[in-house]
Amino acid sequence: MAFNHSLLLILALIVMASVVSGDESPIKPKVKVVKGKRLCDRGWECTWSTYCCNLTITDYFETYQFENLFAKRNSPVAHAVGFWDFHSFILAAAQFEPLGFGTTGDKKMQMKEIAAFFGHVGSKTSCGDGVVTGGPLAWGLCFNKELSPSQDYCNDYFKLTYPCAPGAQYYGRGALPIYWNYNYGKIGDALKIDLLNHPEYIEQNATIGFQTAIWMWMNPVKKSQPSPHDVFVGNWKPTKNDTLSKRVPGFGATMNILYGDSICGKGDIDPMNNIISHYQYYLDLMGLSRDESGTHDTLTCAEQVPFNPTYVPPASSS
Ligand SMILES: *[C@@H]1O[C@H](CO)[C@@H](O)[C@H](O)[C@H]1NC(C)=O
Ligand SMILES: *[C@@H]1O[C@H](CO)[C@@H](O)[C@H](O)[C@H]1NC(C)=O
Ligand SMILES: *[C@@H]1O[C@H](CO)[C@@H](O)[C@H](O)[C@H]1NC(C)=O
Repeated sequence: MAFNHSLLLILALIVMASVVSGDESPIKPKVKVVKGKRLCDRGWECTWSTYCCNLTITDYFETYQFENLFAKRNSPVAHAVGFWDFHSFILAAAQFEPLGFGTTGDKKMQMKEIAAFFGHVGSKTSCGDGVVTGGPLAWGLCFNKELSPSQDYCNDYFKLTYPCAPGAQYYGRGALPIYWNYNYGKIGDALKIDLLNHPEYIEQNATIGFQTAIWMWMNPVKKSQPSPHDVFVGNWKPTKNDTLSKRVPGFGATMNILYGDSICGKGDIDPMNNIISHYQYYLDLMGLSRDESGTHDTLTCAEQVPFNPTYVPPASSS
């Protein structure tokens, strides 16, 4: 009897172990050639496509690394316990990998882009301020929404394009919080998810919470401008005006695009340094050195003129 029990236990453990390691370990893609083109399939991250044959995110970023980066997100005092997970991140990322997210340049650049993206995510969703356990940088993805919104972020000026749904509130939600009806409307259109009528989807579904964030990373604020992705991976060539405005490719310019004059062009201020610290912390945890983060002028936006002045939506005319 005792023997049978321990045998069963061992069998159960083996089964559990194989379920846990499951599809989240790096997998060799299946390969086929169609009309001279090499196509690959990895099951859940990408199916029969060319980019899938190249290095994709799960090749260099695995579950245990996600767990390291966001080690405290499921501790009892966190505000989104059980919400964010690796699987949701990869499902969201998969939509943008063919466009270059985490797949541009060599392996080091690919890893740096993920660290940089998460640097923004971590600092915007951290509840590490004043918390000692694990250090302030270990608390990224503590939130999935703004907790005590001061307003419903509905601007009537956009009532024809993006009318607010009755009772809906457009407070900050997601891995890079988005605000206002017009942003929910615009990003919802792009993702083909009705976020204008269902802003709550973002706080109910972690894949959507990551999709909206990666969309922000992959798209410019204005068509004529670069996206955070572009300035980070080297897709962007500064114009003469950019150079005069001290805007150079690198992590600093990603902050310039996402936050503009709220943190840039103001010297080495804490809110800016907090984002940089998260980026460097993640570089270290991913096994790249923080020395990879760049020189002061590319890493920070301390001296940069913002791409756009802070957008203050026109007051509603009622
Ligand atoms: C795959 O990687 C090669 C070599 O880095 C690159 O030239 C090619 O454009 C990549 N293909 C896709 C579809 O991303
Ligand atoms: C979450 O959103 C994704 C992407 O839109 C969707 O594919 C998935 O079915 C959703 N999950 C649930 C539980 O609704
Ligand atoms: C360059 O900057 C000047 C002064 O800010 C502005 O008037 C001009 O339109 C800019 N040129 C371009 C091409 O953005």
